[in-house]
Amino acid sequence: MVRKLSSLRRNLHCSMATVILWPFIFLSLFRAGHGHSKCPDICTCDVLQNRKIVTCDQGGMTQIPTTDMDSDVQVLIVTAPLNNPNNLTIGRIFLNFHFLEEIHITHSNVPAIGDSSFWPGNNLRVLNLRHNNISQLHGTDFNGLTHLQVLDLSDNLISASPSAPFHFLSNLSTLSLARNSLRRLVPRFFYMLENLEHLDLSGNPLRNVDPENLKDLRPIKTLSLANCQIERLHSLIYQQLPNLVELDLRDNFFNYFAPEEFRHLKKLRMLYLDGNNLNVIVDMAFSGQVFDYLGLSRNEIVSFDVCAFCNSSIKTLNISNNQFSALMIDTLKPIIFTLQTLDIGFNRISMENIMEVLKPLHHLRGISLGGLELSALPLDIFVSNRDLRYLDLSRNNFVSFNFEVLRPVSKLEILDLSGNWFKGMKKEELSHLARFHYLKRVVLHSNPWTCERCHILPLIQWMTDAASKAKVCKNDHGCIHCKRPGSLVGRDISTLHSREIPPCGGPFSQFRILTAGSRLGIIVATAVFIIFLLVGVIYVVLYRRQRAVYYTHEEERCDDNIVYNGVLEADLNGGFSEEKHPHPGFVATIDTRGGKPKPHNNVT
Ligand SMILES: *[C@@H]1O[C@H](CO)[C@@H](O)[C@H](O)[C@H]1NC(C)=O
Ligand SMILES: *[C@@H]1O[C@H](CO)[C@@H](O)[C@H](O)[C@H]1NC(C)=O
Ligand SMILES: *[C@@H]1O[C@H](CO)[C@@H](O)[C@H](O)[C@H]1NC(C)=O
Ligand SMILES: *[C@@H]1O[C@H](CO)[C@@H](O)[C@H](O)[C@H]1NC(C)=O
Ligand SMILES: *[C@@H]1O[C@H](CO)[C@@H](O)[C@H](O)[C@H]1NC(C)=O
Repeated sequence: MVRKLSSLRRNLHCSMATVILWPFIFLSLFRAGHGHSKCPDICTCDVLQNRKIVTCDQGGMTQIPTTDMDSDVQVLIVTAPLNNPNNLTIGRIFLNFHFLEEIHITHSNVPAIGDSSFWPGNNLRVLNLRHNNISQLHGTDFNGLTHLQVLDLSDNLISASPSAPFHFLSNLSTLSLARNSLRRLVPRFFYMLENLEHLDLSGNPLRNVDPENLKDLRPIKTLSLANCQIERLHSLIYQQLPNLVELDLRDNFFNYFAPEEFRHLKKLRMLYLDGNNLNVIVDMAFSGQVFDYLGLSRNEIVSFDVCAFCNSSIKTLNISNNQFSALMIDTLKPIIFTLQTLDIGFNRISMENIMEVLKPLHHLRGISLGGLELSALPLDIFVSNRDLRYLDLSRNNFVSFNFEVLRPVSKLEILDLSGNWFKGMKKEELSHLARFHYLKRVVLHSNPWTCERCHILPLIQWMTDAASKAKVCKNDHGCIHCKRPGSLVGRDISTLHSREIPPCGGPFSQFRILTAGSRLGIIVATAVFIIFLLVGVIYVVLYRRQRAVYYTHEEERCDDNIVYNGVLEADLNGGFSEEKHPHPGFVATIDTRGGKPKPHNNVT
């Protein structure tokens, strides 16, 4: 790292630590290969992978201090924190910078690009002007940038442009104009973009796209028109885009697609129609199409016409968040052999219907059954889906889970149980997980995990195994955090010490809470303690009397119970349960299964 020398000298007088750093600074000066490197005060200058990088990110700038920079800089990054923005204009400030490969000027209130601002730019590959105030493009803005490959103008205020504003950019492959204010595209807007492959126009209020204005885009492979208030696209548009592989029409106002609407897009593999106003998918809608991904989620689809998927091939089909009350298996028949991933979550379909849909899908590798209000699964639900690797059961109503249902899917890799109503997991439940040799991830966050011994101890013990823990905690968000009791809210369970975890609403936890409170608390607690002592004495007396009668049963019971010892064992079984300890004196500690809070809101 090459820091500005003058500022280093200042620091030198201040601290011995800096003196110790000197050899390293010389070293890095040598690595940069230029002992006389300049660096503006408010910037940092690095050499990374043999490229000289200047970063100015403190904010409050009104000009880019190019006069204080080495002219052989390759990457320039100018940005600002939100609370201290830059107010920059550009102008022809890079005339001496022949080696610049990347320029990033973002969050800087740049009002316009300016005539030949990046001249000569003969090595410029990436120009990123995201998050500025550019409202207009001009014909000479990009003069000289014949090698530019990526131009990012997203999050500006662009609403007007002459035709062919990009005509210098004959080698551009990626152009983003996302989230600007374009209401219409001028004729020949994309003229001379002969190598453009990726175009993002999402988030512009376009409403209507005139086929005439897209006719220079023959080479493009991906096009996003997401969130553009579009109701229909003229079929000529599709004809002009014969190389399109990915089309994103998410979050528009489409309410209808004609049969074979996309037939001209012979190379189309990914089609996103999510978040529109579709309520039916007509026969032959996708005839002749081969999709890796077809997104129909977040519409208002009530049903498919029986032949909606006839003559099509679909690997991943997403119909989540619609209004289906039943899926007809005949509709899915044409794609049974190609379908690998299916998302039917957040509809109103019954368990019988889910079973019916799953039965013929022998090649299924992923299924999303999120948000279907499931609380139990039939044992044979997955018997014909033996290839399943990914199972999403998130945002349902599971309180416990019978892992027996997963017996047929021995190749399971990812199991998502997040957003359910688990307070804890039982030791037996967790022991089933060991059977899945390919299991990589178990998603358990967003459940009302209750950090009391009976609920959470088995899970904590299971997670002491590093391999198990890695499956749950891919990142911190995925980890398990206590939702209760109040004193432990938010704690990551793998950081809990055994002695911190209270028993399940038992007398001792009440005792502890009370002593933690006022002096009155102590008195009440003492009284409670005495009462318990008395009950204990009475119990012992009664116990002695009845002992002879129950003698033989007593022995059986003891054998059953030697799994854990002492208090722990009792806690693991949800307090002293009635079943194993049939004496009324002890039944005070069963956990309450009262009204459970909904741990999440379903997405709309
Ligand atoms: C940038 O402009 C805004 C408003 O025009 C102003 O409030 C701010 O102080 C200016 N910042 C700088 C660093 O000049
Ligand atoms: C840039 O645009 C933002 C949002 O429209 C506005 O608040 C800000 O004042 C503008 N800055 C300048 C320097 O015009
Ligand atoms: C154009 O870009 C490609 C990579 O997309 C690169 O290989 C080629 O050298 C560039 N041509 C020119 C003339 O810059
Ligand atoms: C099925 O799609 C192919 C194109 O892949 C097309 O040639 C054929 O006519 C279509 N068949 C029917 C019955 O529509
Ligand atoms: C289906 O779409 C929904 C919403 O658009 C998204 O959250 C979900 O991840 C998608 N499912 C798959 C399997 O891609």
